Amino acid sequence: MNIKGGNISLNGEIDAPGDKSISHRAIMLGAISEGKTVIYNFLLGDDCINTINCFKDMGVNIEVDNTKVVIEGVGLNGLKKPVKELYVGNSGTTIRIISGILSGLDFKSTITGDKSIQKRPMKRIIEPLSQMGANIKGKNGEYPPLIITPSEKIQPITYYQKIASAQVKSSIMFLSLYTKGETRIVQPIKSRDHTEKMMKYFGVNVKEEENSVIIDSKEKPIGKEIFVPGDISSIAFFMVGALILKDSHVIIRNVGFNVTRIGIIDVLKDMGGNIKTYNFREVNNEPLVDIEVKTTKLKGVDIEGDIIPRLIDEIPIIAVAAACAEGITVIKNAEELKVKESNRLKAMVDNLSSMGVDIMETKDGMIINGTTELKASKIETYTDHRIAMSMIIAGLKAEGVTEIDDISSIKTSYPDFFKTLNELIN
Ligand code: S3P
Repeated sequence: MNIKGGNISLNGEIDAPGDKSISHRAIMLGAISEGKTVIYNFLLGDDCINTINCFKDMGVNIEVDNTKVVIEGVGLNGLKKPVKELYVGNSGTTIRIISGILSGLDFKSTITGDKSIQKRPMKRIIEPLSQMGANIKGKNGEYPPLIITPSEKIQPITYYQKIASAQVKSSIMFLSLYTKGETRIVQPIKSRDHTEKMMKYFGVNVKEEENSVIIDSKEKPIGKEIFVPGDISSIAFFMVGALILKDSHVIIRNVGFNVTRIGIIDVLKDMGGNIKTYNFREVNNEPLVDIEVKTTKLKGVDIEGDIIPRLIDEIPIIAVAAACAEGITVIKNAEELKVKESNRLKAMVDNLSSMGVDIMETKDGMIINGTTELKASKIETYTDHRIAMSMIIAGLKAEGVTEIDDISSIKTSYPDFFKTLNELIN
């Protein structure tokens, strides 16, 4: 697609789309709970639809009516052997977390996804799940398709995570429900805690002590009504857009404000961003706010350490903000970005360089020297949704016509992205 940028403002009030991480978890937990789960504000992105399809393929009755989803829970052991391979599309969250559930079941399953998924590292789940007694194998010991065969001896463990990954933590937490006893996960840095919050809400005995999560498998999950807060990772594109595009003023309603997810707000405020939050409230253990953002001249900052997991998916759009800021932004400890849907460090460095930004990739991040003008250029998205949306925002800022090679990936996480963008531009 072509974007004519250079003289664009964003103005108006929008609703944040449902959170992707929470939507996935609500399907998975709802499916293996006793009784009915009703989800409101569900994200109808391809990734979450693939999660729904995996559970439908295992015999769960799931009805989708716009953003309301009703699941007839089958209990921990009620899933049925699928007749074919389970398919997750582009969704790393689905394949990693569902593997925890599949490892506890009494039938063989095979699970795979698209080309990008087949290159995503899975040793990070294979290792802890195997320690719990699971029989799970990948191609070359590492890559999807994953083949999971039943095991008689699933047991609780204490696991020291090497990388701060919520997908890995959640995979272990789901398998812990199939054990007898107490599983403990010790995190190097606390990653997003939606599984902890949701399992507690569904009645599971989950405790948190500093960076540890402890699950006692005595209590089984019971179906609930759940409202999915808006996704900070999706509205991040419009927050940064409103900051860097002239004369902008955007209000975003119903944004999830979980402390493990809002590192981007801390960083943008540190950069001087005019961002205000209102109407703090809570739904099913998750905090929620409305956010107001106005155009601001940003300045460069350092981003590293414990904040990284709190903004891991927002680094591409933070790089766009940094590219338009005064001074230097240094991002460190972000090597995980190399193994996301694409190598996001390389993708952002190549694309922003082509727009005339002084930017350099480092071993675990990037250094960005902000500029006052972005040049329109040709952009490669590597079929990565977050690269595509980040570079569209950069394209709106750049003078001239920016050509983006492929925007099809956007529907994995934000199917209404263009609808909302058009509302804000007009
Ligand atoms: C997610 C966790 C993050 C994030 C991904 C969604 C989740 O991955 O990048 O988009 O829903 O648990 P890791 O925590 O595994 O790095």
